[in-house]
Amino acid sequence: MQRILVVDDVEINRELLRDILENDYIVEVAEDGEQAIRSLRRSHGETAAILLDLQMPRMDGFAVIDKMKQKGWMPKIPVLIISGEYATEVENRCFELGVSDFIHKPFESSIVRNRVRNTLELFSSRNRMERKIREQAEALREQEEIIRIQANKLREEQSFNRLMMEYRSAIKEVETKLQVLNEEFSQEYNRNPFESIKSRLKSPDSIFEKLQRKGFPMTLEGIRDNLSDVAGVRVICSFPDDIYRLAGLLTQQDDIILLQAKDYIKNPKPNGYRSLHYILDVPVFLSNGKKYMNVEVQFRTIAMDFWASLEHKLRYKKNWDRADADEIVAQLKTCADSIEELDYQMQKIRDKIDKCM
Ligand code: GTP
Ligand code: MG
Repeated sequence: MQRILVVDDVEINRELLRDILENDYIVEVAEDGEQAIRSLRRSHGETAAILLDLQMPRMDGFAVIDKMKQKGWMPKIPVLIISGEYATEVENRCFELGVSDFIHKPFESSIVRNRVRNTLELFSSRNRMERKIREQAEALREQEEIIRIQANKLREEQSFNRLMMEYRSAIKEVETKLQVLNEEFSQEYNRNPFESIKSRLKSPDSIFEKLQRKGFPMTLEGIRDNLSDVAGVRVICSFPDDIYRLAGLLTQQDDIILLQAKDYIKNPKPNGYRSLHYILDVPVFLSNGKKYMNVEVQFRTIAMDFWASLEHKLRYKKNWDRADADEIVAQLKTCADSIEELDYQMQKIRDKIDKCM
């Protein structure tokens, strides 16, 4: 049976409560705060709840609560105040101090039993939940530690560096193909289909973070089979129609395989993001043969790129004020829409100029 401590200076109250509770609990009694604290020093670990009077000689109920707080017992032992005719302010003050409930005098045995039982159940389920959360947090920490060790091991492996070299080579293949097309265009039509190319190899930290976030194995196969954006090429064009022309010419080449296309220009994201994304399989010619590597190619206009780099900043900034964030998101969306209009207007003007030449 659980142990309950009844603290009241009036004997009749102590005995009444003992009578009500002793069938279900081991009831101990204390005549004032000092006795209560002495009892708790001995057995606070086994005390399931305290029924505490406020007005008592020598050490009153508030002083007991104070002491319990100092000792760190308050979060562990629920306190129910045995209440006479106390003013609302007194009750509120008690709740602010962390008291669980009030039992009003005169005692009604079924109410007393129910309140004590409810409080104990609530406390034990809260404790169970807290324990579960602590255990889960601990398990997560352990798991993160294991993944960190695996990531460090992988980073130091020779084969990891080789894989990165292969991705770098795939980037170069795509860049070369694009540059050849650009040169051909500028000779034939006296204009460049793209303004610039920005390439990047995903950093090891960012690779490991993504594998962990998505639950993929922290291995070379984990990278090759699941991440399609280790090698990234961004092609910045002047006009939307150049994007489609260039993307078409690139994927028409017979050694390039188009694995996936996401057209965020025809179907922009709700935030206003517009770009054409291709996942390509690109052959890399190595001493031991040909190997296909994934390359993510993003095509966008200069204006879309300008927008995306500003919007990118929004994603990486934490601790936004909700209203500020909402306003910025709305402003970015408006800008994205204006950019779309601008891109097509510029394209029309270019067409007119071309016709006149
Ligand atoms: P990731 O897991 O982030 O790579 O996304 P995904 O696999 O769903 O692919 P998706 O084609 O949607 O996005 C690929 C990349 O495009 C992202 O990593 C970003 O670099 C870029 N991107 C996609 N959506 C947005 C966006 O809303 N804003 C910005 N600034 N960039 C975006
Ligand atoms: Mg990506």
